Amino acid sequence: MITLVPLNRDNLFDVIKLSETLTEEQKKCVAPNVISIAQAYVNPQAWPNAIYDDDKLVGFVMLALSDDDIPEDDQPSYFLWRFMIKKDEQSKGYGKQVLDLLIKKAREDHQKYLYTSCHIEGDMPYQFYMRYGFIDTHMFDDGEEILKYKL
Ligand SMILES: CC(C)(COP(=O)(O)OP(=O)(O)OC[C@H]1O[C@@H](n2cnc3c(N)ncnc32)[C@H](O)[C@@H]1OP(=O)(O)O)[C@@H](O)C(=O)NCCC(=O)NCCS
Repeated sequence: MITLVPLNRDNLFDVIKLSETLTEEQKKCVAPNVISIAQAYVNPQAWPNAIYDDDKLVGFVMLALSDDDIPEDDQPSYFLWRFMIKKDEQSKGYGKQVLDLLIKKAREDHQKYLYTSCHIEGDMPYQFYMRYGFIDTHMFDDGEEILKYKL
């Protein structure tokens, strides 16, 4: 079963090492986990979690629980800030199951949308989000397309 587990002294270095498994192309799509964890340390809105399948560590995900850049009409919304699945665990359905969990949490927390952003070159991860049901806002930030999922 897929669960989201807060970072702790036991899993910290294993989560950091997950970034090394990504291909050079994939590394362009997501910051190294060590950077995300450092950002979380200074950002009280960050919600970083390790992704487990039972006892097996398979990825890392971080939400921003508020984001001033999201348009007023769409507030409150969560922003999916960082998301990665370990290379040899990709394409097994974990990514989709994690989105299910994030959307469940966002609905329970009375959010309007789950926002994210990604590069649009190549199929992944843009097609992953579009297939799931995200809408392309056709807005850009920092060279990335902004997508949103209605809750
Ligand atoms: C993007 C990512 C999180 C998706 O997680 P995943 O566990 O591999 O995805 P899933 O196995 O749940 O696949 C979900 C859908 O994407 C599709 N998909 C998976 N790999 C794909 C590929 N290489 N090309 C095209 N579609 C693909 C699947 O077919 C599935 O769609 P379906 O259910 O309609 O068949 C993961 O691939 C990843 O970590 N990529 C590298 C880092 C990254 O790009 N992160 C996102 C930053 S915005």
